[in-house]
Amino acid sequence: MKINGKHYHTIWVKENDPKTIQIIDQRFLPFEFKIKELKSIEDTFLAIKEMWVRGAPLIGVAAAYGMYLGLLNLTEKDVSRNKIQELADYLESSRPTAVNLKFAIELVIKRIESVNALSAKIKIVFETANQLKSDEIENCRLIGTHGFPLIEKISKAKKGEQVNILTHCNAGWLACVDYGTATAPIYLAHEKGIKVHVWVDETRPRNQGARLTAFELEQQGIPHTVITDNTGGLLMQKGMVDMVIVGSDRTSANGDVANKIGTYLKALAAQDNSIPFYVALPISTIDFDMIDGIKNIPIEQRNEDEVKYVEGWNENKLTKVRIMPENSPVANYGFDVTPAKYITALITEKGVCNACENDIKNLNID
Ligand code: MRU
Repeated sequence: MKINGKHYHTIWVKENDPKTIQIIDQRFLPFEFKIKELKSIEDTFLAIKEMWVRGAPLIGVAAAYGMYLGLLNLTEKDVSRNKIQELADYLESSRPTAVNLKFAIELVIKRIESVNALSAKIKIVFETANQLKSDEIENCRLIGTHGFPLIEKISKAKKGEQVNILTHCNAGWLACVDYGTATAPIYLAHEKGIKVHVWVDETRPRNQGARLTAFELEQQGIPHTVITDNTGGLLMQKGMVDMVIVGSDRTSANGDVANKIGTYLKALAAQDNSIPFYVALPISTIDFDMIDGIKNIPIEQRNEDEVKYVEGWNENKLTKVRIMPENSPVANYGFDVTPAKYITALITEKGVCNACENDIKNLNID
């Protein structure tokens, strides 16, 4: 997608320097556009943990490149099965909820298991990371194709009047590599001349909606309005929301969806107002081995400073201000789980399906 008219991915191999991975550093958006270089597995760990890159699909791709950088910095004499597992465990501990991280690392390990020479392992991991990246791009493009008719149908029913879509957090191209998941059908609808408007939840505490979703929608020329996290219910009651589309960090085999904290409350409000609630996700976000997402999906708890302080742009620099008593205790749960029963359908690269065990099982068949 575009930033100031120029096409970007969120992550890429540096031109003429394949030992360096470059990322858009999301900590500074929308105020400053900065590119950051990753040269080691430690850089990648930090980039994921501190959310220089974020969003389930992008975390997965970054992790694969992280394993590549980790192997690049080994010598033939210290490469062993144990050492590689150590690198994998280290990287996997950066963020627990998005399952793409675990899957990307497991795929890399599986592919290099039967190869001995370090140079051959490095080549395979590099190719795997590049492949994961291009797969995620294509998956998001297809999510757009499959999700588009859902918007088109509402537009037709409203006789071409504006379709109002509510989204939470950032499940846009900045959370992926290109197109996004929740945003892919929206971008396509806009491209095809359907009138769309997006209600963007600000998404406390890190404000991914206000900072990232608003930024990318604005850059692509999509009409949108930022709202506080508590506004969605009122807008639904007043008939100002036609559909909700959100992303997912992990979806269990029975269709429960972990996504940014606050998603569950939007699903409850949508149910109460008979508004369709869709989750757009690549199949790489489905944990086919996990049955009960509500019970089993690990929920990341993050630093209390994210709640205590609000970050913004003041006098040309990023500034933090405290918004509560210094000594009040804080709980900062990063995600919640929306039960499958509140989800109208899942939009995947293989098509739209019900959030239920049988339909999800079919997605796992090539
Ligand atoms: O904590 P974040 O910013 O990584 O959380 C991201 C989300 O919750 C997204 O909605 C989710 O990863 C889907 S991204 C296509």
